[in-house]
Amino acid sequence: MIKLGRLELKNPYLFAPMSMFSDVGFRLVCESYGASYSFTEQLYASEFIAKTDRMKRKLDLHSPCGIQFLSNSPEELKTAIEIIKNHEFYQGLHHIKSIDLNLACPMKKTREQNLGSELLKQAPLVEKLFLTMKKNSHLPVSAKLRLGVNAAHMKSKPYLRIAKLAESSGLDFITIHGRTSAQLYEGKSDIEPLKEVAKETKIALIGNGDVTDVASANKLLEFCDAIMIGRHAVKEPFIFSQLQGKTFDVETEKFKAIKQYLNYSDKFNIGFQLMKVHVQSLLKNTSYTQEMMDLTHTKTKNDILQIVNRILKS
Ligand SMILES: Cc1cc2nc3c(=O)[nH]c(=O)nc-3n(C[C@H](O)[C@H](O)[C@H](O)COP(=O)(O)O)c2cc1C
Repeated sequence: MIKLGRLELKNPYLFAPMSMFSDVGFRLVCESYGASYSFTEQLYASEFIAKTDRMKRKLDLHSPCGIQFLSNSPEELKTAIEIIKNHEFYQGLHHIKSIDLNLACPMKKTREQNLGSELLKQAPLVEKLFLTMKKNSHLPVSAKLRLGVNAAHMKSKPYLRIAKLAESSGLDFITIHGRTSAQLYEGKSDIEPLKEVAKETKIALIGNGDVTDVASANKLLEFCDAIMIGRHAVKEPFIFSQLQGKTFDVETEKFKAIKQYLNYSDKFNIGFQLMKVHVQSLLKNTSYTQEMMDLTHTKTKNDILQIVNRILKS
């Protein structure tokens, strides 16, 4: 058992929030391989409040998770938290176990709306957002951040300032991805700033960035309370079991994961696009290059199933 503030988890291995990948089907696959926690993908708090049908589909939760918001407005966050507290409109809000604020998204579209990593430049506003979350939420609260907007900004240590604000505002934990926003996913994730945060604050810290195996996980766990895995997990969700001592034949296990995901997609009526993205991602680095090509031309769930069946029978 580990504790991230008030959030208790059975182990320190979490599946990172991933747009297009964090649907209930795939979160359950990660859970079956021993991931202790997962999140929704980033959701606009404004759209959550507007109670759109699109948001309703995204919130088909079915299993415990954190919800992650993009917001730069204390009022908006307060209203969103009230909706969760009162179980309004969306089914399954009782599955939400914590509320996370995204200060990490590097995409231009997000930054232009003054959301995600753009907020790393606005510590006073971030403090207001943190205090609002803490004051109004009945659930553990957290934030996910990058090191800064770019290399020049990082020199002033915004990550440390935000981490200290998270601590003084009473957040339960933070996650830090060891890259700047300008880096997107280029270069190597830098663990030194994370070490600095671990040394200078007492807030529970989840380390994130480039974990692909036991060695890279353990390097972060030397000073982090937990780790979060994104890109590797969507290709090989059994990483969570591998970190807990299990060994697998990678290609065989990928097919088991695909089958499991397809069962969930049936059960939860997951749409064609998500199904395609997951099967493509799980087939990466296998010998099935022709099937990968064929998948790009699929137009229906049935097209995907035919290709998967061809692979499973081969
Ligand atoms: C396709 C994709 C979608 C992502 N979506 C989100 C998201 O919705 N919220 C978030 O906080 N981070 C998101 N991230 C970032 C990941 O959570 C994670 O911080 C990043 O990939 C680094 O971890 P990794 O090296 O284990 O992948 C996304 C990353 C990718 C590649």
